[in-house]
Amino acid sequence: MKFIHVFACVLLFLCIGNPFAAVSMQAQVLRNPNVEQKIDSLIANMTFDEKAGQLSQYSGGFNDNATDNPAKSHYEELIREGKVGSLLNVHGVKTTHDLQRIAVEGSRLKIPLLFGLDVIHGYKTIFPIPLAEASSWNPGMVERDERIAAREASADGVNWTFAPMVDIARDPRWGRITEGSGEDPYLGSVMAAARVRGFQGANFDSAVSILACAKHFAAYGAAEGGRDYNTVDISERTLREIYLPPFHAAVRAGAGTLMSSFNEIAGVPSSANHHLLTDILRGEWGFNGFVVSDWTAINELHVHGIAANDAESASLALNAGVDMAMEGGLYQEYLPALVKEGKIPETVVNEAVRRVLREKFRLGLFDDPYRFGSRAREKLETLSAPFLASARDAARQSIVLLKNDNNILPLKKTIKTLAVIGPLASDARDPLGSWSALGDTSNVVTALQGIQRAVSKETKILYARGCDIVGSSKDGFSEAIAVAKKSDAVILFAGEASSMSGEAASRSSLDLPGIQGELVKAVVAVGKPVVLVLMNGRPLSISWEAEHVPAIVETWFLGVQTGNAIADVLFGNYNPAGKLPVTFPRAVGQVPIYYNHKNTGRPGNDTVHYTSRYIDLPSSPLFPFGYGLSYTKFEYGNLRLSAEEISPTDSLTVSVDVNNAGTRDGEEVAQLYIRDEYGSVTRPVEELKGFKKIFLKAGATKTVSFTLTPESLSMLNIKMEKVVEPGTFKVFVGTNSVDVKEASFKVVER
Ligand code: NOJ
Repeated sequence: MKFIHVFACVLLFLCIGNPFAAVSMQAQVLRNPNVEQKIDSLIANMTFDEKAGQLSQYSGGFNDNATDNPAKSHYEELIREGKVGSLLNVHGVKTTHDLQRIAVEGSRLKIPLLFGLDVIHGYKTIFPIPLAEASSWNPGMVERDERIAAREASADGVNWTFAPMVDIARDPRWGRITEGSGEDPYLGSVMAAARVRGFQGANFDSAVSILACAKHFAAYGAAEGGRDYNTVDISERTLREIYLPPFHAAVRAGAGTLMSSFNEIAGVPSSANHHLLTDILRGEWGFNGFVVSDWTAINELHVHGIAANDAESASLALNAGVDMAMEGGLYQEYLPALVKEGKIPETVVNEAVRRVLREKFRLGLFDDPYRFGSRAREKLETLSAPFLASARDAARQSIVLLKNDNNILPLKKTIKTLAVIGPLASDARDPLGSWSALGDTSNVVTALQGIQRAVSKETKILYARGCDIVGSSKDGFSEAIAVAKKSDAVILFAGEASSMSGEAASRSSLDLPGIQGELVKAVVAVGKPVVLVLMNGRPLSISWEAEHVPAIVETWFLGVQTGNAIADVLFGNYNPAGKLPVTFPRAVGQVPIYYNHKNTGRPGNDTVHYTSRYIDLPSSPLFPFGYGLSYTKFEYGNLRLSAEEISPTDSLTVSVDVNNAGTRDGEEVAQLYIRDEYGSVTRPVEELKGFKKIFLKAGATKTVSFTLTPESLSMLNIKMEKVVEPGTFKVFVGTNSVDVKEASFKVVER
């Protein structure tokens, strides 16, 4: 046992070597005294009904194209009475401006409205789903795409998005894995910060910046059994080490709002969780934006069994730190009485109102309530050529090449006869993913269209649907087999419908749905070279396919440029460089399976009986975290560290030479992992601490350097203090979490 010293200066590590410090605008701690004064006088002048109004959000469901919703006049009346702070699911220049006019001209206090919408991966220019974009390991690209989403949404009157979803997901059964950045807190944090910066711009500098909302706070992805909304029971350590970091990164990047989640954590629903919403979020992190509940999550506190009635639900939520109620209307109904009865202190109400008003000021709505919503900009920019070019670029970067035996890919554009088979090949709906805002199928380039555009004029394409995504009919098999027989190669599309992932779309199986697995077998049996192209919102268990199909390409759901991006990869216009942000299991029974697990006292060894393993499956995943192939080959060598020993407050440089040993130019994501060998508490076998995406010409070599800071080496000790403990650290650098070069160094007290 080594001597363990606890280094006192916990705060030090919040500032020193913080990987996100450079991107943080620390907007949370900046308070503008002028604005605070204006807020003071507004609050002093408000009735409790009006205060409750600022804390209430309702779903309108109307826009410029659907105006005759009978609910509209009801909401107009409420706005006039000062009983609405925000509407969601309302957009359109005329609609939002008309409603805003009622708020700022027709209501007593003239407080402008927030218009919220789920702009998750694009507004009309739909980008790849977030899980796909995380596969790019390119935060700059992600930031650019959210910037575009913000431009399009704000032109249509939307000033608040319920994104980014930053929930860590270690269970692919959970359908909402599709909306986040996968299983890793470091990658998740980098992506969270990038998305916030993209939506909000540099401190809300213009009317093309919209308010971001990091959701779902917190640990929503840890639902038991992967079943959406289900109970979460995790330790404070796992909460802080795994699930909270992306939220903290979003807050540091200036996120104006957070959304409280539906789930409970160890007995306390998040939407009534004072520890989470006040002690950690406000107390420890200094967040001064506001928290909105998820849809009727406050009402559901009663169903959770923590509040005997709606009034108690409202009181629990507001006292815990939920500032705004999304739908449900409980604040409006009960808050004035609860304050009178002394169940909610007036100061708590005032503080919640202050936080909401502060964000309205930040957005510039008090200066110009009509600054969002511009027909001119909408016409000029929405779905414009540069935006579509970005969508194509993002889609290509999101593709992960899982297998490519005998370099069957890329295919020749001059191939004579090509079979394109499968239920997703000519599909325009599913590539949009489960949250597609105002995405329209008419703007989607299907895979088949992309392939048709890419091949030579002489190439004959034979298309057969084969079967449906779900269902058991094999009626289309004979046609699929027939076209495969006539072709020189087959591109086979298989996967999930977009509705099979996302909210309330958990699955108990990770296999290809319906009869598709049998279609794959039947087509492979023909004996032609087969490329399997997957479209899906989660990792799938494709063990048979991984063994028997020579080439497999993971495309997730790629958005409007699906077909062009897939063709770019299949025919070699683009050399794939995506890496998995999540582990692919061999079978659903391995779930949860993630790379940063603990060692246990009996690490899994497939040849030793009494070890932590399954008797019917290898312990390893099918494809590990960080995995992805290229059409070229990268070799790593000469791993070196700037020191063999450092003190706990020192940083260390890790360098490695990466060589493109193949014949094509390409990009590679070099990944850095560490292992803190012995700690006062057990540490994961590997933790991602850095990555760099580099471009290398064929034959070229580049040195990639990473800095390991005290923040990267720190951990939560037994007292939950953030410290760097002396001892040996292993360093791993490589092309994924398994194929790595290794070195080690010591942290010593000086
Ligand atoms: C419920 C979802 O959980 C949340 O992510 C979303 O933002 C709201 N509905 C609003 O649509």
